[in-house]
Parts: sequence; structure tokens; C-alpha cells
Amino acid sequence: MKKLIVYYSLEGNTELIAGKILKYLEADVIRLIPKKEYPKGNFKKYIWGGRSATFGEKPKLEDYSFVAEDYDVIIIGTPIWAGTFAPPIKTFLADNKISGKDIYLYTCGAGDATDKFFDKYKSVLKDNQIVDTISFVEPLKNKISNIDEKIKEFCEKIKHI
Ligand SMILES: Cc1cc2nc3c(=O)[nH]c(=O)nc-3n(C[C@H](O)[C@H](O)[C@H](O)COP(=O)(O)O)c2cc1C
Repeated sequence: MKKLIVYYSLEGNTELIAGKILKYLEADVIRLIPKKEYPKGNFKKYIWGGRSATFGEKPKLEDYSFVAEDYDVIIIGTPIWAGTFAPPIKTFLADNKISGKDIYLYTCGAGDATDKFFDKYKSVLKDNQIVDTISFVEPLKNKISNIDEKIKEFCEKIKHI
């Protein structure tokens, strides 16, 4: 089964997890990059990014190559922004008809993703099977000792479907 990891990451946490997933399973990778990237590292990111997420913006993305039929399994990674998935993910899901896939969702947030977060996320992917979800709390900052174990476990499930 061919797998894809598609993710957005402003400050590297979601990217770090994508890299760790790749240690445990083979997958193609798409990193979504907005044509106009959000500001990093200061309060501006919360104003601009928070507003963008709250208003449901779909920022234009740099070109990427995605053929839905090529994949059975899609792993989608996003930071949590204003309680929802980051706008570049919204663009990706709006621009591509994704249905009938086994979907695995992972998030990075200042806190763990809530059920409400995942419900919202799952509703836009309703034509697919959401097999598993997992969340991480700012892994770049928090050196969680069992992070690799947690990712390995997540990947084992993906490998054995
Ligand atoms: C605009 C913005 C809004 C955010 N909103 C939330 C939030 O609602 N809940 C949360 O837990 N973390 C929130 N965060 C924190 C990020 O989700 C967290 O730092 C994440 O690990 C960043 O991932 P990245 O490094 O891949 O960009 C927000 C960050 C930004 C920039």
C-alpha cells in the first residue's frame, strides 16, 4: 500500500514528527508551503495566523504534486491554530478530492488536541476512514522521553492495516 505524509509546519514541530514517522515507515512526503508564509517567532504569528484560521482562510500554496489515486493511506499533520487545523491544510483539503482513503491524523499544539478539534477535522474528511489520531505537545521544546516509542506505535498500526 502506498502511503503519503502531507503536513504543514510553521516552526518545525509538525515537521519534526513527519521526519520521525519516516524512520518507521516508507512514505512519500508533501510539505505544504503557503505562497505567502505566516510570520514566525513573535506575537504577529498569533494575530495573522489566528485570524486566518478563525476566518477559515485558504491561503494559496506553492506548487506540489499530488495524485490521490496513488495512495491508499494518507497521514496528515498539522499544528493546531485557534482550535482548528492550520489554513494550508484547509487549502489542501479543499483543492483535492480525497475519498475512500485510510487517514491518520496527527497534530502538534501548545496542548493536546481535544475531541472537539478532531471532530471538526474529521468532518471535512467524512468520505474517508479516519483510522487513528495522535497529538503531540510542542516536541521541539518538550523533550518527551517516550516520543519515539509513541510514534513507533502509531506507525506499527499504519503498517499492519
Ligand atoms: C496562530 C497560532 C494559533 C495557535 N493556536 C493554538 C491553539 O488553539 N491550541 C494549541 O494547543 N496551540 C496553538 N498554537 C500553538 C501551536 O499549535 C504549536 O506551537 C505547534 O507545535 C506549532 O507547530 P509547528 O512548529 O509545526 O508550526 C497556535 C500557534 C499559532 C502560531
